[in-house]
Amino acid sequence: MKTKVTVVGAGNVGATVAQGIAIKELADVVLVDIVEGVPQGKSLDMNETAPVIKSDSILSGTNTYDATENSDVVVITAGLPRKPGMSRDDLLWKNEEIVAGVTREVVKRSPNTILVIVSNPLDAMCEVARRVSGFPRERVIGMAGVLDSARMRYFIAAELNVSVENTHAFVLGGHGDTMVPLISYTSVSGIPITQLMDRATLDAIVDRTRNGGAEIVKHLKTGSAYYAPSAGAVQMAEAIVNDQRRILPCAAWLEGEYGMKGLFLGVPCKLGRNGLEKVIEVELTAEERTALEKSAEAVREPMRAVKL
Ligand SMILES: NC(=O)c1ccc[n+]([C@@H]2O[C@H](COP(=O)([O-])OP(=O)(O)OC[C@H]3O[C@@H](n4cnc5c(N)ncnc54)[C@H](O)[C@@H]3O)[C@@H](O)[C@H]2O)c1
Repeated sequence: MKTKVTVVGAGNVGATVAQGIAIKELADVVLVDIVEGVPQGKSLDMNETAPVIKSDSILSGTNTYDATENSDVVVITAGLPRKPGMSRDDLLWKNEEIVAGVTREVVKRSPNTILVIVSNPLDAMCEVARRVSGFPRERVIGMAGVLDSARMRYFIAAELNVSVENTHAFVLGGHGDTMVPLISYTSVSGIPITQLMDRATLDAIVDRTRNGGAEIVKHLKTGSAYYAPSAGAVQMAEAIVNDQRRILPCAAWLEGEYGMKGLFLGVPCKLGRNGLEKVIEVELTAEERTALEKSAEAVREPMRAVKL
């Protein structure tokens, strides 16, 4: 049987995730949305790219959940995106209802699936999916760190005029203004970043990374970023379905790691066929630890507000 990935939400992020999965031929894709015609039209349009992109992934669009049965991975992108001036937390109330409803539907038909959450506010939506699904932490993972780290890597590569492939960065913590870019693990071809740029330049990159989402919202005015977020979700799905055991920064439910438990927080995770296979604990400087704890506090607030 071919691998099946369901993507819920056929908007900017969801449709681009579906396209990314098809381009990489990772799986067949079921695209679900509440708006009639949109998942059907977008899937057909993407299927018609198949001969050109040389992909045998088959996409199907639907407004119900029957076709999602026995999905290996479900990527949840349903919800409202941020508008200018709106924080991710402003989205909490509306998206809680949406993500809870979607989770109920998908887990009924795919009780063994792995949930990759993208909807914002990310850490709180992971908690909604965890509570509603009753899944163990191995099978509820949030996408944010891959995106935040990719932004930082792009800014570093652009500043140094080097290949993005040579850059390495880890952004941990909550997916919000308190995210924690780890300078001590940022490097270019293994060379510590502090040997390649001065502190002021690095601080500006860290700042731009923290505000990376808002920078795009400001340009777009009517929506939020989706190409880079989708690429992040596709990379996580690929690590899972191809059992890559990649170490990626993801939002994971902590059970004592980093001295914290009972919350989702961005930490280095090993992703493979079983989903979250391990939370990797890295040594942090005192400054990084304090920043991570502060970020955890910021995450706990919307998580406490989850009504379910
Ligand atoms: N985690 C991250 O790093 C990250 C990055 C970008 C966007 N996001 C979040 O992802 C979500 C999607 O963003 P987008 O830009 O694709 O928005 P979008 O508005 O383009 O798409 C959202 C889609 O969800 C659908 N939807 C709404 N309620 C639904 C339901 N009950 N069932 C099925 N589908 C439903 C809508 O019809 C729409 O097509 C937002 O919450 C956004 O904030 C997260």
